Amino acid sequence: MSSATARTGQRFRSLTGRPGSKIGKKYSDGVVIAGGVEPQIAEALAAARAGLVAASDVDALRRVANEHAGKGSVLVGLKSSLGSIADIEARKATGRAINEAMQSLEALVAERLVALERAAAGHAAASEAMDLTEHLARRSRGHAHIVTQAWERLEDVFVGMGFKVAEGPEVETDFNNFTALNMPPNHPARSNFDTLFVKYGEPGSTLLRTHTSPVQIRVMQEWDLPIYAVMPGRVFRRDTPDATHMPVFHQIEGLVVDKGITFAHLAGTIEAFTKAFFGSEFTSRLRPSYFPFTEPSAEFDVRSANGKWVELGGCGMVHPNVLQAGGIDPEVYTGFAFGFGIDRMAKERHEVADLRDMYANDLRFVRQF
Ligand code: PHE
Repeated sequence: MSSATARTGQRFRSLTGRPGSKIGKKYSDGVVIAGGVEPQIAEALAAARAGLVAASDVDALRRVANEHAGKGSVLVGLKSSLGSIADIEARKATGRAINEAMQSLEALVAERLVALERAAAGHAAASEAMDLTEHLARRSRGHAHIVTQAWERLEDVFVGMGFKVAEGPEVETDFNNFTALNMPPNHPARSNFDTLFVKYGEPGSTLLRTHTSPVQIRVMQEWDLPIYAVMPGRVFRRDTPDATHMPVFHQIEGLVVDKGITFAHLAGTIEAFTKAFFGSEFTSRLRPSYFPFTEPSAEFDVRSANGKWVELGGCGMVHPNVLQAGGIDPEVYTGFAFGFGIDRMAKERHEVADLRDMYANDLRFVRQF
């Protein structure tokens, strides 16, 4: 089996010894014949190796293995033709060569099988894996309107000062909105409130509340004394919208009724609130004013560090007639009340130029806060 003969390149499709087959012709020289088979084995082995290495999955690998080492393959064909090699030594050598080729193919198949299975498992793991390091864009959640933000902060500040929160209905009786607040029918102060009446009951008996003060009456009638209450809510006036007015807006009412309450308590509460809500660099002032339901009455302003005074709302000592309407003896109890606009506070706080922008729902506006 010299390498010189191996390079003869003769191709034998079969070793079955058919008459005229090339192996038959060569068989006269045993060594040469064995050597003549060698290139076939080498070629079959090389083709099998190439096929096995190229097989990209387990199925393909099995197919290629069968093709090169199974029934009908060149190697099996050669093996079954061994008997036609007369020279025993040559036959043995050729048989060994074929067996070695088969074994090396088997080993390669086993090796490739492991590699392909590992790769397949790797792919499956990769495709099913959750990437715990993945960073997803945060879902946009939106946020509370600046009036709601102010409303909630106001509640927080007053609750922190010992007040309880109450709410009343937006559709009110004329009695609670006016009469009980010391504005009997035909009282001129009623005209300060551009009222929207509701078609319900007696004409003029039911309305959209023009302020949160009617909740004072409800709280006085329903709660036990002493009373420390804040009452935020939506109110309505027949106003044309402009930069500083809206027909629908929000107020927060405050009411304290206890024994020995004086105007000093009112002033102190307003000042404490101002500092708690706006910051310690803010201060408040009271200016004499008039409301039918408080006596004496005042407007209160707050001043920021930049020196600008901003009017926030009204306040005063609860009028004895109002205490009486609420079922409270004004000879035993006194109280103070205040009320101011939440929208205006949000407007000041965020330096909004025009109140109407706060209700246009333009996201370019809303997203600023
Ligand atoms: N209700 C008044 C208004 O809307 C404000 C106010 C409340 C004044 C309580 C005094 C006491 O203008």
